[in-house]
Amino acid sequence: MKKTISILLFIFIVNVILAQPSIVNPTGSVHQRLTLNKGWRFHKGDIPFPEIKGQEMSYDNAKAGTSWGAAAPNYDDSDWRLLNLPHDWAVEGGFNPNVNIAQGYRERGIGWYRRTFKLLDEDKGKHIELQFDGIATYATIWVNGTILHRNFCGYTSMYIDITPYANYGDNINTVAVRVDADTQEGWWYEGAGIYRNSWLVKRSPLHIITDGVYANPVKTDNNNWDIPVEVTLNNIAEAPVNADIEVSVLDAAGKLIVSGKQSATVGVFQNIPVRLTLQVDNPTLWELDKPVLYTVKTIVKTKGVVQDQSIIKCGIRTIRFDSKKGFFLNDKNIKIKGVCNHQDHAGVGVALPDGIWEFRLRKLKEMGVNAYRCAHNPPSKEFLNICDSIGMMVFDENRIFNTSPEYTRQLEWMVRRDRNRPSVILWSVFNEEPMQATPNGYEMVRRMSDVVKRLDSTRPVTAAMNGGFFSTLNVANAVDLVGANYQIRDYDKFHNEHPEKPFTSSEDGSAFMTRGEFKTDKTKNIMSSYDTEAAPWGATHRNAWKQIAERPFMAGCFYWTGFDYRGEPTPLQWPSTSSFFGIMDLCGFPKTAYFIHQAQWIDDKSVVNIAPHWNWPTDTIGKPIQVMVMSNTDSVVLKLNGKLIGGQKVDRYEMNSWNVAYKPGKLEVFAFTNGKMVAKNEVNTTGKAVQLRLTPDRKSLSGNGTDAMPITVEVLDAKGRAIPTAQNKVTFSISGSAQIIGLGNGDPNCHEAEKGNERSLFNGLAQVIIQAAETNGEVVLIASAPGLKPAKLTIPVTSAKLEPSVAIEYPQIILNNWRISPKSLTRPDPNIVIANNDMNSWEPIGSGTLTKVTGNEYFVLRTTFKTGKSPQAGGNILFKKVTGEAEVWLNGKLVGKKGSFETSDLKVTFTETSEECDLRILFKSTTESSIGIAGSTELQ
Ligand code: GAL
Repeated sequence: MKKTISILLFIFIVNVILAQPSIVNPTGSVHQRLTLNKGWRFHKGDIPFPEIKGQEMSYDNAKAGTSWGAAAPNYDDSDWRLLNLPHDWAVEGGFNPNVNIAQGYRERGIGWYRRTFKLLDEDKGKHIELQFDGIATYATIWVNGTILHRNFCGYTSMYIDITPYANYGDNINTVAVRVDADTQEGWWYEGAGIYRNSWLVKRSPLHIITDGVYANPVKTDNNNWDIPVEVTLNNIAEAPVNADIEVSVLDAAGKLIVSGKQSATVGVFQNIPVRLTLQVDNPTLWELDKPVLYTVKTIVKTKGVVQDQSIIKCGIRTIRFDSKKGFFLNDKNIKIKGVCNHQDHAGVGVALPDGIWEFRLRKLKEMGVNAYRCAHNPPSKEFLNICDSIGMMVFDENRIFNTSPEYTRQLEWMVRRDRNRPSVILWSVFNEEPMQATPNGYEMVRRMSDVVKRLDSTRPVTAAMNGGFFSTLNVANAVDLVGANYQIRDYDKFHNEHPEKPFTSSEDGSAFMTRGEFKTDKTKNIMSSYDTEAAPWGATHRNAWKQIAERPFMAGCFYWTGFDYRGEPTPLQWPSTSSFFGIMDLCGFPKTAYFIHQAQWIDDKSVVNIAPHWNWPTDTIGKPIQVMVMSNTDSVVLKLNGKLIGGQKVDRYEMNSWNVAYKPGKLEVFAFTNGKMVAKNEVNTTGKAVQLRLTPDRKSLSGNGTDAMPITVEVLDAKGRAIPTAQNKVTFSISGSAQIIGLGNGDPNCHEAEKGNERSLFNGLAQVIIQAAETNGEVVLIASAPGLKPAKLTIPVTSAKLEPSVAIEYPQIILNNWRISPKSLTRPDPNIVIANNDMNSWEPIGSGTLTKVTGNEYFVLRTTFKTGKSPQAGGNILFKKVTGEAEVWLNGKLVGKKGSFETSDLKVTFTETSEECDLRILFKSTTESSIGIAGSTELQ
């Protein structure tokens, strides 16, 4: 009962947190944060830009607002694939033995994304920001034809102020993103595409900048805490404004604890930090088993009117690294039981829905993990939300070791974004850098540490070194906590030479296992799961932990890795495409290592597990099978078919082993503490396969269009027991309010597609990942395989509040780059030839701009375009909101007319087939007025 309540509470907390990003902003008029994930067009492969040639094109090319090819607003993307973000195209393709092993033999390449949207007329004057949380790997971003950002890291966010470039009303905005995933930043699978969320944020001219609230509680004395709050404001209005800032802190129940006020004058285009300190007495601390979060609400007003607001979470806790006793959380000495991980999962690559992050972190927590090293890059915000909410400490790591301005900016971004997180306990500036033992490396780390400390002095700076600790000047001299990757042999030596320096293992292990396999066979690319295989630089799971556990000065370990990941199939290669390092496989199915770590790391409940399975071929009967029992109790007793095999005192470092003569049946283990049986477990020889089983990770999905969960697929015998050796190929069909977004089975050697509706089990298990639609109802998933009874799973999809979204617009081709002729009192020739080198007789005019005329004046608007990709000749041109009499001429031919002055849309049809089209609109007014095209012009 207690367990059920705590699971329900856990699910509740996670759901609440998942529903609330760290910065939860109201969607009212003062501040809107809208998802921009839906409705993108995608093209895999590059689209070369046209050659810049000729005087006019060369001149235009040098101008803001002019871009070419797929970057241009008027590009025809109507035949591109439609999709929603997050998206990783690398996982959609197959494997190729000729491409990089480090990227999991997956082709990456170049891709293009485009999205069009409108802004309301009432958005004029607001600060409009486009945000991408992560794009793999380099990205170039155009908005309405102007390059606004070039991103040089696959793991950092982009906050792009598009205010000066924005179009309003009917005038459509176009975002074009060229993603270069040929670039590599890692030696692991990095995915390809816009793989984290994207957003459009509308704020008042006076606003809190993104990541602009810093509220990190610090202990003053006994039970008293200060929350120094820093709110960074910016003002894009035309004059300085006086801002009143109100900050309040609410407890987990939403009760106001303390509030404060401050005022500041914010100059035009200035970032002004406003500081105040709030006091909290006797707070409830953020603990690993009870991670209480407080809410910090900031409201910015001018003359009593709310201009902006932000809501963030923070946690109240202390951390300390001691050179003799290791790590302290809230003054309690605890060992860090950490794992390192990359960010890909079966079926979805690096584009993980929040539900999959929640699943992965929950599995780690259930294993006894208390810390997560984000190797070797900053994680997503949604990942950190979950860590804050479930009590998982984070080793937050910078990607590129470099102190040039661009990479310093990336480091600053990480610290600014993550410095409110109670989960984040460390800033890591690098992993294994060849310059770590040189004066150059030392100088770089000194600078990087300074950058970090200016933004957050409450967390230690570390670096993950794989040597060089003993050279005269090395980076250990410049960090607060020395991190050692694979240095068991030097733990004592380093501590003896530097007894004052806090020390941790930052990377450990690198042992190999294939889930469900118990004999290494390198000819078949299989590694045994008895924890006997480790990289020459690494250690087995058992030894790595023993070396940490027995040394009080070691703060803890970060085991390489919690989950398998694509790439680095060390010590093997093709056909293996993903790693063997994981404690869990790529799907999150536990290997033997999972139970070893449970036995080592779990203290609050009794666990006991047995390896291997008990389904061996008949010619094994009578032969010895190694049995490993993993428990955290005092002693264990093993029985086969009711007969005692033996009892042993539990060894929590080495585990307990027997050689048991194989006989089919039931192998049972009984675990005792203080003479009382506290846990038991068994493995059984199963019968013939008769049916399939589908087990969902959770009881329901939320119908918000993004919620996702893994479903486990197994084959059962007649007694309903899962067959651990089953390898059946299973086909899935799905109907109702969800879809399949990925498939996996955790076999590093499997080359089956990760998308689609078919997957083979690998050693008894496969995984299907389903994602809810934006509707409630139910989803029905059916699994079938030849000769087996199918399994049918029905899951409710509950109604959910949808994330406010930027409406999708699919204009066809938007025509822009207009020029206007001089006005005249007599009718001009609309088709007058303009010399290619004449950039001045006709002025450029923005789309959607009306022109003032006195009575009886004429002018001509002109642009050029290429006809669409459609093989049929011609098409339609739709001019939106046209005022004044107009004649439309295309390549010298009259193709349409508007006879009245009144504002209306004008649609003309043309049969033109020529690639280059010259479009002219002759306007005429008989009265003094503003005439022209107020909306967009679309080619259909
Ligand atoms: C480390 C490295 C990791 C991974 C690991 C494999 O040196 O930091 O990224 O490559 O080795 O053992």
